[in-house]
Amino acid sequence: MLKGKHIVLGISGGIAAYKSAYLLRLLIKKGAEVQVVITPNGKEFITPATLAALSGKPVVSDFFTANTGEWHSHVDLGLWADLMVIAPATACTIGKMAHGIADNMLITTYLSAKEPVMIAPAMDLDMWKHPSTQDNITLLKRRGNIIIEPKSGELASGLVGKGRMEEPDKIVEAIESFFAKSQSLRDKKILITAGPTYENIDPVRFIGNYSSGKMGFAIAEECAVRGGQVTLITGPVALTTPQYENIKRIKVISAKEMHAACMENFTHNDIIILAAAVADYAPDYVAEKKIKREGVEDMVIHLVKNPDIAATLGSRKLSGQIMVGFALETDNELENALKKLNKKNLDWIVLNSLRDAEAGFMKDTNKITMISSHGQLIPFDLKSKRTVAKDIIDTILTQK
Ligand code: PMT
Repeated sequence: MLKGKHIVLGISGGIAAYKSAYLLRLLIKKGAEVQVVITPNGKEFITPATLAALSGKPVVSDFFTANTGEWHSHVDLGLWADLMVIAPATACTIGKMAHGIADNMLITTYLSAKEPVMIAPAMDLDMWKHPSTQDNITLLKRRGNIIIEPKSGELASGLVGKGRMEEPDKIVEAIESFFAKSQSLRDKKILITAGPTYENIDPVRFIGNYSSGKMGFAIAEECAVRGGQVTLITGPVALTTPQYENIKRIKVISAKEMHAACMENFTHNDIIILAAAVADYAPDYVAEKKIKREGVEDMVIHLVKNPDIAATLGSRKLSGQIMVGFALETDNELENALKKLNKKNLDWIVLNSLRDAEAGFMKDTNKITMISSHGQLIPFDLKSKRTVAKDIIDTILTQK
């Protein structure tokens, strides 16, 4: 499971730092490549020589090598790693992570991390219980960091209570289960909607929108690569179906047809991702023949509400199903996205805004913020839609 995985192991200054050597050894034995980043205080508890010998790599601690001036790039580490694990994470390091106080190499690496981050706190029981620490932990969780809860037991102070870092073998189990969850969709069925809907006015005209289907198709491809059985319901788009045996495509035109196809398919799916831009209204009457301009000065088209597919599915959500909607906004982004999350009974909403250049309709890139019904709010950088799809799937599989 860990073979070939790139892991940054961050070590901060607490007595539990001695356990990091065991953790490092276990990770290496499992085939991971590990780069240790240690804080200046961490070095008081365990020597870089021990960690370099175990990892087979020089330990990173300072911004520069003193005698050569060589710069150690925390940005490169963020691009290299599949996962960052900070064990032990002291109250001080947790506080700096929560508030962006980048005064050492571990924190700059954390702030540049593109990969998911796991944190194994270790401190005295009163420090752990303190509202300041608890608020910082809540903040880090909300941003998508994964906390490996400390255990109760005897502490360095001689007191007994919660604050002991989890044992190295249990941290490895958490890391393995993280990769297992984030990788595979085998045995999972995923329903995805993509593209626009067209609402006919007459045989040649329609009301539509600019959705190209790229976002939904990228998600379908990502799910297929991970072994999921994908049903891709698409409005009229020019894209060809990604070439995977495990993608079944259903083509529809209007919101009503998309609604019907979703209703027919949704009960046997484990994950439902609604990336389509569905027209909220449709003409109440579709002319049988092409409407002529002669003799008609003003034209009024009376529109009636289409079914809200996400809200209908949300109200019928089965236990265990994960439902993800999108919110495409132009203003009051967060407020509007939260309203949709709650109103449609979704587990996650993926917010993208037309105010972000290179995001949204037709672009090959997108910039999203994922918001969960548990209050997590995870912003992502501008990325290709294919990478955005990966982030979405990783997030829903690894976060609660
Ligand atoms: O297709 P691309 O060109 O790649 O562009 C991608 C995208 C911008 C279309 C995509 O990223 C996106 O944001 N899709 C949702 C667009 C949208 O209709 O957002 P909304 O905020 O109006 O709808 C909220 C959610 O309810 C969406 O999940 C939507 O699918 C769903 N909905 C909306 C109306 C309706 N009648 N039924 C629905 O199910």
